[in-house]
Amino acid sequence: MRALLFAANWKMNVGPAEARRYLATFLTAYPPQPNRQVWFFPPAVSVEAVATAIGNRTDLRAGVQDVYWEPKGAFTGATSSPLAAEAGAKAALIGHSERRHVFGETDEQTGKKLKAVVAAGLHPILCVGETLTQRDAGETLTVVRRQLHAALGDRVEVLVTVAYEPVWAIGTGRNATPRDAAEVHRAIRAWLKERQAKETRVLYGGSVNVKNAVELLAEQELDGVLVGGASLDPQVWIELVRTAVT
Ligand code: 13P
Repeated sequence: MRALLFAANWKMNVGPAEARRYLATFLTAYPPQPNRQVWFFPPAVSVEAVATAIGNRTDLRAGVQDVYWEPKGAFTGATSSPLAAEAGAKAALIGHSERRHVFGETDEQTGKKLKAVVAAGLHPILCVGETLTQRDAGETLTVVRRQLHAALGDRVEVLVTVAYEPVWAIGTGRNATPRDAAEVHRAIRAWLKERQAKETRVLYGGSVNVKNAVELLAEQELDGVLVGGASLDPQVWIELVRTAVT
């Protein structure tokens, strides 16, 4: 059975009290499953609540949705990787499309964040993906390779997970077909292999839900999914992480 990672990106939802209630429901209904990891990315203020609730469960992890690249100092409003680690984070999303497109994060900044995350011992999930205009112009692979290169450079020595999230599929109800996703995943893997990357998981994200997860995960190129909306309700999320795969 292939190993799968289900990552929940709660975005700007679920405060500490709701996170505790959510995890209580989740932990009761979801015992560890073989070859299945479930990672939670709550807002920074809820990381400690999630990490504490997870306790010793090795199939579960808490992470942060973003970090600033400096370890500490006068950077009002920002969270650093060491601070996130102290709150119990073991992983971090880097370069999510909302960071890039809503907050104007550049490729260069994404690269600095990735280095900072690794230096603090957190596992990075690097998010890449094209806009609809770029897809329609046939630029998908060029954009994705540019984003990979900006964050990872010419030789990939760090352990990283890549999440392919086409911008046009995020929160729109429109997901890539399993074939479309697999084609980009193959290109990502080829790019990583050329740069001596160690085994790297490639996740798909963008309007994944209980219904389309079966079809998406039937595609062997997918090592898991990164999910926004469908991870906010613990019952729905439990159903999704239980998706049967072939
Ligand atoms: P949705 O699942 O809500 O489309 O969000 C995807 C996403 O951005 C996960 O990081």
